[in-house]
Amino acid sequence: MQRKDDHIKEALKQSFMPNDFDKIRFAPVLLPETDIENIDITTSYLGKTFKTPIYINAMTGGTEKAKEINDKLSKLAAHFELPMASGSAAIALKEASAVDSFKVIRDNDPDGFILANIGADKSAKNAQEVIKLMNASALQIHCNAPQEAIMPEGERNFVGWKDNIKAMMALVDVPVTVKNVGFGMSRSDILMLKNIGIKTIDVAGSGGTNFITIENARRNYPIDGFKNYGFSTVESLLESEGIDGIEILASGGVRNAYDVVKALSLGAKAVGLSRFFLNLAVDHTLDEAKDIIQTFLDDIKKITALLGCRSVSELKNIGKIYDTSLLNFLASRA
Ligand code: FNR
Repeated sequence: MQRKDDHIKEALKQSFMPNDFDKIRFAPVLLPETDIENIDITTSYLGKTFKTPIYINAMTGGTEKAKEINDKLSKLAAHFELPMASGSAAIALKEASAVDSFKVIRDNDPDGFILANIGADKSAKNAQEVIKLMNASALQIHCNAPQEAIMPEGERNFVGWKDNIKAMMALVDVPVTVKNVGFGMSRSDILMLKNIGIKTIDVAGSGGTNFITIENARRNYPIDGFKNYGFSTVESLLESEGIDGIEILASGGVRNAYDVVKALSLGAKAVGLSRFFLNLAVDHTLDEAKDIIQTFLDDIKKITALLGCRSVSELKNIGKIYDTSLLNFLASRA
């Protein structure tokens, strides 16, 4: 349980540095011929159409502090009709005192789209139980092998995770999505998930909250030089290009509305933010957080309109300019 509060504390210490979203630019549009008031920011994935292209990504649950955060976030989710993922909920199956910190999400957002989060190391029965606990609308499975490996008390055996995901898909009766926790996905990862029947993937790349840094802070002897492991969110989105029949979601290092627009232009159906919402929950009143989110959503509309697009789905057709390091990435992966 202490681990959950450590994660919050260490995540809040990290500053959001420049990242790969800064390596993408768009050509300016002199006469956009669009009306900001009429920009359509709806998007569809996991079998539903949502009012906005952003969602509150997985974070927490299990402690009093986590309950306060989930309480506030789920009120915001309800107000803006944002999908919201819980933090890893397996703890609620072991410790009765942890249950309320997850249940509060559904209590505050009775009609909302809630994703119950669980690790790929867990059983299908566990997945079914956490869905029931939150009356969840979807299951979000995290694959966090690098975090577990670096975590002092983490899992050491990654055998059987793919079979667990398959078993969860076979057992549960809600849509299933798979995510990383900030290390991204390669093209072969995405194709592997597609081949086992996953239809919606959050690439969850690096560039934002870094779980190597978080777990390093919890170790006696940190592992130096490993914090850049993985693919950034932008690199992961480039890896997903041209793969049909799969819904790609983007998260990891999304700092502002411009980053959201860039992720959508790279083909993401929607964009998840964790640290951004953690800051809102911890540093702002509910009313301030509402103002900030409203401005954020308005800014997505403004930037979309400036680029000459009438909807977020039109963004994926616009040209992108990459800096040399992204071009090198593309060349080395071709
Ligand atoms: C997380 N994240 C996470 N992911 C997950 O699938 N299950 C979890 O329980 C948690 N727990 C968690 C706690 C805290 C405090 C943070 C900040 C994050 C990872 C999260 O969903 C996301 O993948 C990363 O945080 C990267 O996104 P941001 O923070 O850069 O927007």
